[in-house]
Amino acid sequence: MVQEASKVECPAYVTHPKLRAWVQEMVELCKPDRVYWCDGSQAEYDRLCNEMVEAGMLIRLNPEKRPNSFLARSDPSDVARMEDRTFVCTTRREDAGPTNNWVDPKEMKATLIGLFDGCMRGRTMYVVPFSMGPLGSHIAQIGVQLTDSPYVVVSMRIMTRMGRKVYDVLGSDGDFVPCLHSVGMPLAPGQKDVPWPCNREHKYIVHFPEERTIWSFGSGYGGNALLGKKCLSLRLASVMARDDGWLAEHMLIAGIEAPDGTKTYIGGAFPSACGKTNLAMLIPPPAMEGWKVRTVGEDIAWIKPGPDGRLYAINPEAGFFGVAPGTSQETNPNAMATLWGNVIFTNVALTPDGDVWWEGMTKEPPPELIDWRGEHWTPDCGRPAAHPNARFTVPASQCPSMDPAWEDPAGVPISAFIFGGRRATTIPLVTEAFNWTHGVYMAATMGSETTAAIIGKVGVVRRDPMAMLPFTGYHMADYFNHWLGFGRKLKSPPRIFAVNWFRKDENGKFIWPGFGENMRVLRWIVERVQGKVGAVESPIGWMPRYEDLDWRGLEHFTREQFDKLMSIDREEWKAEVLQHDELFIGLYDRLPKELPAVRTLTLSAIWRAPERWNLVAEND
Ligand code: GTP
Ligand code: SPV
Ligand code: MN
Repeated sequence: MVQEASKVECPAYVTHPKLRAWVQEMVELCKPDRVYWCDGSQAEYDRLCNEMVEAGMLIRLNPEKRPNSFLARSDPSDVARMEDRTFVCTTRREDAGPTNNWVDPKEMKATLIGLFDGCMRGRTMYVVPFSMGPLGSHIAQIGVQLTDSPYVVVSMRIMTRMGRKVYDVLGSDGDFVPCLHSVGMPLAPGQKDVPWPCNREHKYIVHFPEERTIWSFGSGYGGNALLGKKCLSLRLASVMARDDGWLAEHMLIAGIEAPDGTKTYIGGAFPSACGKTNLAMLIPPPAMEGWKVRTVGEDIAWIKPGPDGRLYAINPEAGFFGVAPGTSQETNPNAMATLWGNVIFTNVALTPDGDVWWEGMTKEPPPELIDWRGEHWTPDCGRPAAHPNARFTVPASQCPSMDPAWEDPAGVPISAFIFGGRRATTIPLVTEAFNWTHGVYMAATMGSETTAAIIGKVGVVRRDPMAMLPFTGYHMADYFNHWLGFGRKLKSPPRIFAVNWFRKDENGKFIWPGFGENMRVLRWIVERVQGKVGAVESPIGWMPRYEDLDWRGLEHFTREQFDKLMSIDREEWKAEVLQHDELFIGLYDRLPKELPAVRTLTLSAIWRAPERWNLVAEND
């Protein structure tokens, strides 16, 4: 249903007076040429994709190689999330806390109204109704996104439950999160559009947690623009979760099946581009016969206490917006199988036969390609063919490892939480927390090297509490307090583990083979939960001995290598604890007292440890 903007008429099936009034008001502000109400149908999706192909915004891939799939190339200024342009606007600055950018809501609204005024001239405003979580389930949250980007519309159809049915659930008085989005590039009469419209000067990703609205201007990329994802399902949802006693986390959810048929679900928090997608759909090494991993989610988890006192997690998303580079038949065969068709690729390279390629997809790069910027590329040209944050957008239902319960509105029971950063030094392969409070400390003080998923410098270690630094929509110390109290109320809270797949040797090579081999660590974790396997006490937590892990098929990985991977260097750890302190000092006014207490215990244990604590010495 397309109509002239001046006389916005809502379709009869949109009966919600507040929603109708809001759309009218935003149309008057943004002044689009047309308003289009999305129904979420396949026909609509196909039509929008065709229109974008005709307009040069998408390239249709070779249907024989990659049916119903497309390539988008973004503007080089718009390739990842922008943390310095992301804002949490609470009335009081302290409520956003020192880890969020804050501007007074009134002042921010004035700025935004200035930017949004007339920002959709020459374009169509799409009305996109969506549900995060299965449609109509009691845990789902409904949002309505207004956007002038058809790329965002088709992406939202993959990533969320999007379409007309949302209005049935919403009725005339249901709650919804109003999400306003514009690429911020109005077209003058006759002005030719560009393949990736965005605003190079002004970008704002703004959250108003108190009125539960989202305004995003100037970017068309990923988490900046698909507002159901990080904005609604993490930043706003984390505030709802604090208020209502649950957790909204940057976590994968996976079910681990043992050969005896038991299934243990875990939640795993890793910062952006640090291995959630890989771990969520891992295929165990063949020698570990009978072990299986089933996928529930690979980016976001909503976790609520059930009536039985256990925790239940759901994945609010319906698709994957996954990192392409590094994904291959060797590293993530399930992702490769998922990508057979119906994919929107962004910023990957194009092969001469109309398919896609990215760094790491094959050992040998193709002799020539068109790179992510549309330029001719050869292996010796010195530039990457795909942008390091190139991504695929694909329905989760296409992934062969999806768990039968992945859409169950009741969620899956969580028995363990895993926290993992990307650390070349210091952090051992795996440790288990002594208790819930210690686990919250480990998670809160997690450090990780920055990746291409965020605009800015790559490879800098920073504290990324619970992998939620960019996503906690309120004061980080209040978030820690919420975590502490949350576990205390549970009969038997999940065990907490810290992992690091990324430790390097003196030659800069990863010590741990990672990917499918991570199953060996997952098995130990599952069997710790089941009380079936041993561990030793180290200064920083429980650790497996060499003999506690399953080495079948990886016998060439020696005790000495394992020892190196697990060692605790006293001086490195003193420096590490100093960084914990730095984080705590920044949050001091609201910091729960437990955390500096655990820090003191940790420091004492490290202080008393030998210069290099290791398992071999411990076992002698
Ligand atoms: P977001 O979608 O940004 O939140 O990230 P994610 O955590 O889902 O990241 P993803 O799983 O896509 O991982 C991205 C990068 O980590 C890729 O380059 C992978 O090759 C690399 N990676 C994943 N698992 C491992 C591992 O076990 N070892 C090593 N060395 N690299 C890994
Ligand atoms: C992340 O950066 O953690 C992502 C990608 O999952 S985005 O949706 O762009 O935030
Ligand atoms: Mn993410």
